[in-house]
Amino acid sequence: MPFFSDVPLLPDDPILGLPIIFAADPRPNKINLGIGAYKTAEGHSLVLTSVKKAESQILQRHLPKDYLPIEGEGEFIKCGLQLLFGAESALLQSGQIFAAQTVGGSGALRLAGEFLAKLVSKTIFLSQPSWSNHKQIFEKSGLSVGSYPYFDPQGHGLDFAGMCEAIRNMPPSSAILLHGCCHNPTGVDPNFEQWKELSSLIKKQQIVPIFDLAYQGFGQSLDQDAQAIRYFAGEGHEMLVAYSFSKNFGLYGERVGLLAITASQAECMPKLASQIKFLIRCNYSTPPLQGARIISTILKSHELTLEWQRELKNMCERVKEMRKALIAALLVKGQDKNFSYMHQQNGLFSFCGLTPDQVQRLRQEKAIYMPSNGRINIAGLNTQNVEYVAESLLSVM
Ligand code: LMR
Repeated sequence: MPFFSDVPLLPDDPILGLPIIFAADPRPNKINLGIGAYKTAEGHSLVLTSVKKAESQILQRHLPKDYLPIEGEGEFIKCGLQLLFGAESALLQSGQIFAAQTVGGSGALRLAGEFLAKLVSKTIFLSQPSWSNHKQIFEKSGLSVGSYPYFDPQGHGLDFAGMCEAIRNMPPSSAILLHGCCHNPTGVDPNFEQWKELSSLIKKQQIVPIFDLAYQGFGQSLDQDAQAIRYFAGEGHEMLVAYSFSKNFGLYGERVGLLAITASQAECMPKLASQIKFLIRCNYSTPPLQGARIISTILKSHELTLEWQRELKNMCERVKEMRKALIAALLVKGQDKNFSYMHQQNGLFSFCGLTPDQVQRLRQEKAIYMPSNGRINIAGLNTQNVEYVAESLLSVM
């Protein structure tokens, strides 16, 4: 009996499907501005030297390959929390935080979603737009997914008034997903004063904030990029943070993430831990070893930490230079258009208002690839292709 003949075909993933289509394109001048991964000035993937050194140290230690505890590697979790909340954070001493290693930032989001759906919230609200995987992760977790205004297409900036108004109408106990820095896909972030207002509004409305922090270090600095989360934590929010180490350590395929949950009472911790550990155990049992070992090896070594920070800064600087170069080329070539708003965008991504049709034309006519929402991965630019990309963008806009 054919069991599978009626299984429907789903469309390719709008982001992870792109490298496959890109690889099949025979045009030599093709450019991939799709998946949110760092590329070097030569257009190559980068394995950080600090990571290579850590891997070689791990190899020399001949460590066992035993199962990790369900919540993950203890040293990794400790170092990760210090990176996120700051080494001096009072929260870390207070016992009001539980954290677990996860399978990338996506794994942390999925666990957060399942935990909230089971015990806390019915609905989660996402920024409009948000990372394309957010909606399906939270729907599959059992939450209803709503949205709040975020990007103002006319002004090319944050629709802060619209966002606040939407929060005022969210039912208590619902969850709100916030991008801690370097908003994906727009690159538009609230400023610190706006974060403070959001914190007080969210608290007043009795909503649970979930931060997605996938680009710490690619915005302003490691500390500044965590400023909003640290502020919310200091204000005593009970909240969740889904953290990804994919981008800032260049460990994409190692799938290293962290889920942190803060509570107002330390007594909650064993209960929270039991729930998250149960979700992990019946999902993927325990997390993988190697990525966590690499990160704890780096963060426990002063020398390797400094080297990693330098490498992260270099990646970030190159992206900033490429953003400037793109804006400059757009301004020279498209004199009637103003692109200076792109200077305000942070991190890997830029949004300049491309429609799905324009994205399609860029792919077909110019061999330039990006997701259909028009998100440009600035890290895919280099001095050889930036002029061509600017001309091509203008030709379809
Ligand atoms: C992206 O947004 O491109 C990255 O986070 C990769 C992914 O998993 O979508």
